[in-house]
Amino acid sequence: MGGMWTEGPLCYGGDYNPEQWPARVWAEDVALMRRARVNLVTVGVFAWSRLEPQPGRYHFDWLDQVLDLLHDGGIRVALATPTASPPPWFTLAHPEALPVTADGVRLHHGSRDTYCAVAPAYRQAARRIAGALADRYAHHPALAGWHVHNEYGTSCHCEHTASAFRRWLADRHGDLATLNDAWVTSFWSQHYTDWAQLSTPRATQYLANPGQLLDFRRFWSDTLLGAYAEQRDLLRAANPRLPVTTNYVLGDWVPVDHARWAAEVDLVAVDHYPSAVDIGAEEQTALVGDLARGWARHARPSPAADGTPAWLLMESAPNQIHTAGRMHTKEPGRMLRHSLAHVARGSHGAMFFQWRAPAGGAERFHSALVTHAGPDSRVFREAVELGTALQRLAEVRGPVEASVALVVDAASGWALRHPGLPSELLDHHGEAAAAHRGLWHAGYGCDVVVPGDPLPGYRLLVLPALYLIDDATAEWVREHVHGGGHLLATYLSGVADEHARVRLGGYPGALRDVLGVWAEEFHPLADGEQVTLSDGGTGRIWAETLRPAGAEVFTAYADGVLDGRPAVTRHRYGAGLAWYLSTRPDDDTYRRLLARAARAAGVRPVCPQAPDGVEAVRRRAGRHSWLFLFNHTDRQHRIAAQGVELLTDTTVEEAVTLPAGGVAVLREHPR
Ligand code: GLA
Repeated sequence: MGGMWTEGPLCYGGDYNPEQWPARVWAEDVALMRRARVNLVTVGVFAWSRLEPQPGRYHFDWLDQVLDLLHDGGIRVALATPTASPPPWFTLAHPEALPVTADGVRLHHGSRDTYCAVAPAYRQAARRIAGALADRYAHHPALAGWHVHNEYGTSCHCEHTASAFRRWLADRHGDLATLNDAWVTSFWSQHYTDWAQLSTPRATQYLANPGQLLDFRRFWSDTLLGAYAEQRDLLRAANPRLPVTTNYVLGDWVPVDHARWAAEVDLVAVDHYPSAVDIGAEEQTALVGDLARGWARHARPSPAADGTPAWLLMESAPNQIHTAGRMHTKEPGRMLRHSLAHVARGSHGAMFFQWRAPAGGAERFHSALVTHAGPDSRVFREAVELGTALQRLAEVRGPVEASVALVVDAASGWALRHPGLPSELLDHHGEAAAAHRGLWHAGYGCDVVVPGDPLPGYRLLVLPALYLIDDATAEWVREHVHGGGHLLATYLSGVADEHARVRLGGYPGALRDVLGVWAEEFHPLADGEQVTLSDGGTGRIWAETLRPAGAEVFTAYADGVLDGRPAVTRHRYGAGLAWYLSTRPDDDTYRRLLARAARAAGVRPVCPQAPDGVEAVRRRAGRHSWLFLFNHTDRQHRIAAQGVELLTDTTVEEAVTLPAGGVAVLREHPR
């Protein structure tokens, strides 16, 4: 499945909201889409009040016309179910379906995403509109697939939710004794003797129970997944040939375990809006592409002959990037670079939010392919160039070259957000990003995996503050290293079990034997505080009193209370080698360290001749390979390479010249 989106040409287009415009604009839209070579648009994401202006009374005429127009123009449609934004009549009729915050405040109508995903009235109304769309359009020739909802991520603490949470807990733990044990309710007199005593983690006087917080996140991820699956099943039943998906929203606030969800979607689709405006935007783009590809490995098998996990960049910004207090205008060429960086990492195209900038509404100044100025604009000209570029890359396929596996785990991310931890600076995703950044700058290809994934061909496994490690995961790590794989684990990895209970006997309880070292005490650092390391680098966020138990000291602390004590260690375990970082090195030191660990593991950079700032990604399919080169620096670089450059259709004999901000995609000589 996913095939109808991922087998043809690379997808190009975005969210299209014809309901915001009079019908006369629609024909111009289709003409402009054709000029830009747009071939896929998502229609109807927020159109519920236009489709069902009164309960059970539908207005489909306008959508009929739009779908026919798009079909006549050769543009395929990802038809959305509009359930992320219930209409005003719904909330008026069902105030009990409005969400409640942890503080007990019931939210009001007036934005979007204002519903409780458990409330029976909401679920029923969502099924009804999705069913009506399925009945009418499941066999419309314009349809490439279904786009369910938008960015599942809302939360709620109402009574409907509390009852559903109790049922979920009973299912997970079986009996109260097991739950009490998992949550360590002997602490602060929290022992439960009846399921009715349990509630969602509402606002409390002081710190909440970590087991309860963690289970609530897991429950909510499952709950939203249930809401998605209900619509998916109904759409699938109407036409089993059409793939169904939903667009993932990213961020550590999102109560969704995207890897787990991947098994339930026909295509992993992600929205990506970098939060940085400098090189950080490119670093984030690379990480998100690798994350999405990693999740896609859990999706239902793609029919793509080469077995490449199918995923799609479903939304991105054509122009402005949001940053603190203002929007940053993307520099010329940057939209192309960001889009192709995702394609390099396996996205089957580049999609945007949105096609045409709206004249009003909350997101009136969000960037669009057709700007407020109209098509006579730099952005639209670049959109046309991107359409051409994507067509020229149609032949690129195959897995991305990577020998390093980076573990990212939703539950560890949630657990390191809990109150009562030794430092507020702890952040699993931040640690994953730091490790990924180091690998990216050093030029190493990296796949993202979740605990328990098969690790064939990965020479180096990186655990970035993988706080929660259950026994099976500890065994998985052990087997990898024992069998000859290398490991780099950072502080706090394996400190707690799957219920967020601390593993006793010295940190990190789950990995002491593999790492050959243990920590007796933590020394959390203040925000901005640094410790000096013996290799001249610095450490931030964290430090520990380490006690080697077989490991050798690679770097020591060189000042402060830990002066002279181990900071970074390495340990032979079975046929492998395990590195441990008890602090977060500064970026340069971290990059050098990762390069050292990668070299020791026998990993080579993707393109050793590319300097820092020039990103290289290689896709391979059998004897064929394609090398993507991105010059993120402000000066020209000449990189030794041979093949045919696809964007310009020129033969490269010895080296490719990349101007500042330039991109090249080489079809390399077959092996
Ligand atoms: C998300 C949403 C869109 C829009 C954009 C703005 O991706 O799906 O509806 O709000 O963010 O960045």
